Parts: sequence; structure tokens; C-alpha cells
Amino acid sequence: MSILEVKNITYVYGEGTPFRIEALKNISVTFEKGELIAVIGHTGSGKSTLLMHLNGLLKPTAGKVLYEGKDIWESKKSVKQARFNVGYCFQYPEHQLFESSVQRDIAFGPRNMGLSEEEINLRVQEATQFAGIDSSLLQKSPFELSGGEKRRVAIAGVMAMKPGVLILDEPTAGLDPKGKNAVIELIKNYNIQTGSTVIFVSHNMDDVASLADRVLILSEGQIVMYDTAKNVFSRGKQLASLALGVPEITQLFLSMGERGFDLPVDIFDIEEAKAALLSLLRRQAHD
Ligand SMILES: Nc1ncnc2c1ncn2[C@@H]1O[C@H](COP(=O)(O)OP(=O)(O)OP(=O)(O)O)[C@@H](O)[C@H]1O
Ligand SMILES: [Mg+2]
Repeated sequence: MSILEVKNITYVYGEGTPFRIEALKNISVTFEKGELIAVIGHTGSGKSTLLMHLNGLLKPTAGKVLYEGKDIWESKKSVKQARFNVGYCFQYPEHQLFESSVQRDIAFGPRNMGLSEEEINLRVQEATQFAGIDSSLLQKSPFELSGGEKRRVAIAGVMAMKPGVLILDEPTAGLDPKGKNAVIELIKNYNIQTGSTVIFVSHNMDDVASLADRVLILSEGQIVMYDTAKNVFSRGKQLASLALGVPEITQLFLSMGERGFDLPVDIFDIEEAKAALLSLLRRQAHD
């Protein structure tokens, strides 16, 4: 079942100025409940502009956004509701931490929703667990934490609002490998345990391969592909023509294929890679 539907959206920045730019061009797309979706595309392709439409941070110049079948711009109330239904985590969200303690920062969103103190505390506890934040950190100032911990606290703050759809704009950007893996685990766990839809932007194809069920590719404000991760990464040549790469492991298989090894081209997962290589070795042993 679809949770969000984007219908024929066009968005223009700087209308009536010499800097007018059509950032989205008549885009339509449907996001299914419970899916983990990656949005990729080179810089300026319209990824952030599209995502900011999903919770009403931007109003389409033309077209509609439907949440569970209802136009989010129907009334003032429905736009406000869209902000809670669709949680938005900006790039470098840790820059927006401002409260005196980690606990208060995570509680900020739920408090804004007008929930009871009891419910707020429950949600902070839950989100803290998802984010793998040790409860001993809750009373600390967010500014005493490491970069990776700050990022997870900021994401936990959005998760604590229990949005039906969680949007993350480049959630792993600028983190070291350890911090990055922790954020990937956090997103995976949240998606599996809550069944919420997650949409994230990434420039890193290995992150996309390890997380996404489905991949949406934007180019110059238009959708050029929207398919399962497997189908998208099997089109290495088309990705290259869009100046996009493939996961390292897919690249390895593509290169081996070009050197004459009989291997599948749609591999992006270590277990599948192992099985394909073993099968190749077995076949060669028989020859
Ligand atoms: N506030 C703004 N005012 C004017 N033009 C903008 C504004 N924000 C974005 N744009 C333009 O709209 C187009 C799409 O930008 P957008 O930020 O959505 O791209 P993106 O895919 O998120 O890029 P990146 O990977 O760099 O984050 C670009 O041409 C960009 O220059
Ligand atoms: Mg962006």
C-alpha cells in the first residue's frame, strides 16, 4: 500500500527573476509503506528539493503531495500534520542540537506534538535504544559527544516523533567509518522494528546497496529510474552515463565480466558475491 504519493510536481526557484530555475519537472512517484528507499543523483539534480516537498517544507509550484491519499496542502491543519507524519532530518542535523541535555534534545519533537510527559519519556527511551545511545549520555550536554554520537542523537530526535515516513538527507555524510556503520545499523533497525517507511539521500553507493530496497534516481529535476536496488545496480553502464557509480563489489564483478569471467552483473551483496564466486570456481574445476 502506498503511504506517500507525489503527483505531477513542478518546483521553480526564483520565479520572475533572472535566476529562475525549474528544479523539479513534472515528477510523479509513489512510496510504499515499510520500504527503505534511497534517492541518488548528482549534485543539483533536485534530491533535497523533492524531499522537502514530502512534509510540506516546500509547496509545489504545480502538482500535489498525498499522504495516505490526502492532499497535504488541503488546509493549514493538514500541513501541520504533515510535519509530524513525515519526519525530516536535514543534512548535518547535529548543527541543530541546542538543548542543555541529550534527553531534552530528543524530547523536543515529541514535546512540540503536545504529548504527555509520560509519553514523551517513553519515546525518548525508545529512540535512545534505536540509536544505540548509552543511557548514561542522556544527562550530558550534546556538545560533549563525539561527532557520530551527536548525529545519532539528532536522528533519534526525529524518530521520537514516530513519523510514518522518516526522511534523512545524506545521513552518513562526513562521518568516519565507525560512525557511518552505526548510523546505517540505526536506520536498518528502525525500519525493520517499526515498519516505517524510510527515504534517504546518499552519494555513497555502498551505503545504498547495504540499505535500500528501492532506488530512485534523479537527473536534472526528472526521475530517470525507480526500481529495486538489484535492477538498478545491474544497469552499470546507464549509471555511468549519469555520472553515478555502482557499489565496489558490483564494480569488481563488472570488471571480471569484461575480462571474460562468466559472472552475473547484478551482485551488490557480500553473501551473493561469495555464492557466485564459489559457483564459478566449481564450474571451472569441472571443465
Ligand atoms: N534556495 C534555492 N534558491 C535557488 N535555487 C536553488 C535553491 N536550492 C536549490 N536550488 C537549485 O535547485 C536545483 C536542485 O537543487 P537541490 O538542492 O534540490 O539538489 P540536490 O540534488 O539536493 O543536490 P546536492 O547533492 O548538492 O545536495 C539546483 O540547480 C540548485 O542550484
Ligand atoms: Mg541536497
